[in-house]
Amino acid sequence: MISKDLRKNFLDFFEKRGHKIVASGSLLPSDPTVLFTTAGMQQFTLYLAGGRDPIERFGTRHLASCQKCFRTDDIDKVGDDIHHTFFEMLGNWSIGQDQEKGYFKKRMIKYALEFLVGVLNIDKNRIWVTIFKGEKNIPKDERSKKIWQENGVLRERIGEFGIEENFWGPVGKTGPCGPTSEVFYDRGKEFGCKNPDCGPNCHHCQRFVEIWNLVFMEYIKDEDGNCRLLSQKNIDTGIGFERLVAILQKKPSAYETDLFLPIIQELGKISFKKYEEEKRNFRILADHIRGTVFLIAEGIFPSNVERGYVLRRILRRAIRFGRLLNLPKNFLIPLAQKVIEIYEDTYPEVKSKETDILTILQNEEEKFEKTLEKGLKQFEKISAKGDISGIDAFHLFDTYGFPLELTQELAKERKLEIDIEGFKEAFEEHREISRAGAEKKFGGVGKEASFEATKLHTATHLLHTALKKILGPHIRQMGSDITSKRLRFDFSHPQKMTAEEIKKIEDLVNQKIKEDLVVKKEEMRYEEAIKSGALAFFKEKYPEIVKVYSIGNFSKEICAGPHINRTSELGKFKIVKEESSGAGIRRIKAILE
Ligand code: SER
Repeated sequence: MISKDLRKNFLDFFEKRGHKIVASGSLLPSDPTVLFTTAGMQQFTLYLAGGRDPIERFGTRHLASCQKCFRTDDIDKVGDDIHHTFFEMLGNWSIGQDQEKGYFKKRMIKYALEFLVGVLNIDKNRIWVTIFKGEKNIPKDERSKKIWQENGVLRERIGEFGIEENFWGPVGKTGPCGPTSEVFYDRGKEFGCKNPDCGPNCHHCQRFVEIWNLVFMEYIKDEDGNCRLLSQKNIDTGIGFERLVAILQKKPSAYETDLFLPIIQELGKISFKKYEEEKRNFRILADHIRGTVFLIAEGIFPSNVERGYVLRRILRRAIRFGRLLNLPKNFLIPLAQKVIEIYEDTYPEVKSKETDILTILQNEEEKFEKTLEKGLKQFEKISAKGDISGIDAFHLFDTYGFPLELTQELAKERKLEIDIEGFKEAFEEHREISRAGAEKKFGGVGKEASFEATKLHTATHLLHTALKKILGPHIRQMGSDITSKRLRFDFSHPQKMTAEEIKKIEDLVNQKIKEDLVVKKEEMRYEEAIKSGALAFFKEKYPEIVKVYSIGNFSKEICAGPHINRTSELGKFKIVKEESSGAGIRRIKAILE
């Protein structure tokens, strides 16, 4: 079965059973404490926690989706048969059980077998399951065990595990969670080990692959880490799409299925090497290039913080693997194009963002190419002396652009240790130094701010919103510097702005100046500010209570100030320069006349 048919079969199956099909949410969850979407349920958290009624929004409590996910926890395992950074998750939900319409364990277990055996024709004898054995005041799930047996799963194929293996969630620190029952597929003895306990969750082999996680979400975890019963019962399930595609296409891993094959073949073509001989390297590259395409399609740019740093890490790791395979210059481009071809029908954003994706990949490759070789030489020198000091690791990061994880990987290959604490200290020390003047650089204008600088500061807020409105929501502030003569604003954007775009932005800012909007200052909790839609500068660490400046209904930003009172005081806004300020970052200089 081709992968597209599996998506369709799954969604059709649940649609026929009264579920509403919901489109995949973004890879960037709305919860600012979580970096990426790692599970299908994230877009439904509020409903699952009982805070909102799903009927009001979806017209039903039964939902299904195919969700884009991204996880970094297993990045070291990528290259084996079953782990990926980007992956898809098929899921279905019953939110808030009620006697009439909601369903729970009995119906869910029936659905699982009906879909896997009835629709996908998976041999029932290859299906093993696990249930929660009870731990930490949460009782054993006897009911699921009984239901599986009633549905023909033999007692010896039902494993029992504790919190570590059979309790899921929450995604962040708090939220809905619950015991699980997991469905495994037995790939056969040839994938197994000699361990007498070999079975689902075996730590020595990958014979049993987890394919479906059924979460009986009836608890909620609070700030203190305590789990208490939720006011409602939910079903939350997730199928590892890639794993199931591999099983259905009778391949040992997804890399050999239609989800990856065109990328693997392209790699063979450009490297003149064989997949069978370079399996791990090919797989890591294919995984990371797929991950970068999806992250960039969400508007993320490589940087040294947060999501941008994750992107940079996998991208630079891919570039290093490209070097190991002796790939030609700009090798990322044809590989990314293959990813786009594979996914454009399912996730049109990879096609509509193609220019951004290719531009950023090319920029980052060129940028890192320049320092990679020198950095590798430097690493050779350092590693010849033995374990790597924190200062040396920081030097590789700061001067050669080596993410710490890359240095760690190189060190591991040579069985050397890195002084991580020392790295962190060097990093902090460096931050302290560059923090001098940070207020000025990243938002404030400093104590001795002149009236001119204050006006330019307010103009910067107008510019920031205008950029988002005209160029798109991907715009993020990357830096700001204000003198009494001009403002300078760095922001993420993949290409040079056209004269027309510059004009539109000037016009919009000037229109807002003319409207004589009132600048309003409020103080509120940081979370509240974010919830109300205030823009925040990603790199900053904010205090609990922040100042929020709004300019009419046009702009709202967390900011230290100061600002002028009304926009008509600004005069005429003019962009005097638009230039590059690093890969995927543009810089605008503007004045008030
Ligand atoms: N939330 C569960 C998981 O991510 C089931 O979807 O595995």
